[in-house]
Amino acid sequence: MLKFTSVKDISDLKKAVETALEIKRNRFAFSHLGKNRTMVLIFFNPSLRTRLSTQKAAMNLGMNTMVLDVNKDGWQLETGMGVKMDGDKPEHLREAIPVIGKYCDVIGVRAFARFENRENDYSEEIINQFIDYAGVPVVSMEGATRHPLQSFADLLTIEEFKKRPRPKVVLSWAPHPKALPQAVPNSFVEWMRHTEYELIVTHPEGYELAPEFMGDIKVEYDQKKAFKDADFIYGKNWSSYSSYGKILSTDYSWTIDKEKMALTNNAFFMHCLPVRRNVVVTDGVLDSPASIVVEQAANREITAQAVLKMILESM
Ligand code: CP
Repeated sequence: MLKFTSVKDISDLKKAVETALEIKRNRFAFSHLGKNRTMVLIFFNPSLRTRLSTQKAAMNLGMNTMVLDVNKDGWQLETGMGVKMDGDKPEHLREAIPVIGKYCDVIGVRAFARFENRENDYSEEIINQFIDYAGVPVVSMEGATRHPLQSFADLLTIEEFKKRPRPKVVLSWAPHPKALPQAVPNSFVEWMRHTEYELIVTHPEGYELAPEFMGDIKVEYDQKKAFKDADFIYGKNWSSYSSYGKILSTDYSWTIDKEKMALTNNAFFMHCLPVRRNVVVTDGVLDSPASIVVEQAANREITAQAVLKMILESM
């Protein structure tokens, strides 16, 4: 595997989950693989989990790591093609990317949707420039349309906590005061479609995800109906895809609370974090034994390590 931007880059998902479980049993078993190799992590957007877990994963494999926060540390980077650079951005990605590639063996990039133009966001214009010009393998640490490192950790967490072979997994929209990208829900649906799980997506009208991600997955517009007999509730806000980047609803009746969780089959509650308490989900749920958000976040280190192991073994 010489890039990781989606589940499609993993040839055998079952084996990848087994690799992650093997790493979890002994996370230093492969520390020889990254010797004298360097990973650069580039952030166009903030992060807590992705930054720390990916850096830790690389270090567990014996790699050296360097982190660049583009908005604080480097030159402001122009990303558009054909732009006359007479503004405040002195460097273009077209030079910056191959230069970064000369200093490392693997690049991780985080570049969220910018909500200026849906086509540009959905073409993954920044991550794809890294893939084209880096000259080394590129790992998405969340792009405009997908968050594959998160989804892999989500899958591992469900595999560890599921009580039946084909659990019912519900992805539920929840309110939020800011317009958030669709990357996490898109990616979650895409990964779940590669499993045998029963997946239901529930959201208010207007929040339909892009058809390329949803395929034939069922939408249930009645949140309470969707929660019935669920084994996992994945709470997440996202902004509208059709009215691109817009907040169409802040309906707090969609907040996930204990009453709704009581409709489920003793479901576990999942969220990628960060989460706004008592907006997306109540304290009562997050502080209950049903919440596995910390275990889910802990798995970010494990699955990032599985991804980096696959990349290092392919180099
Ligand atoms: N879930 C996740 O990616 O968290 P961060 O934004 O903190 O990295």
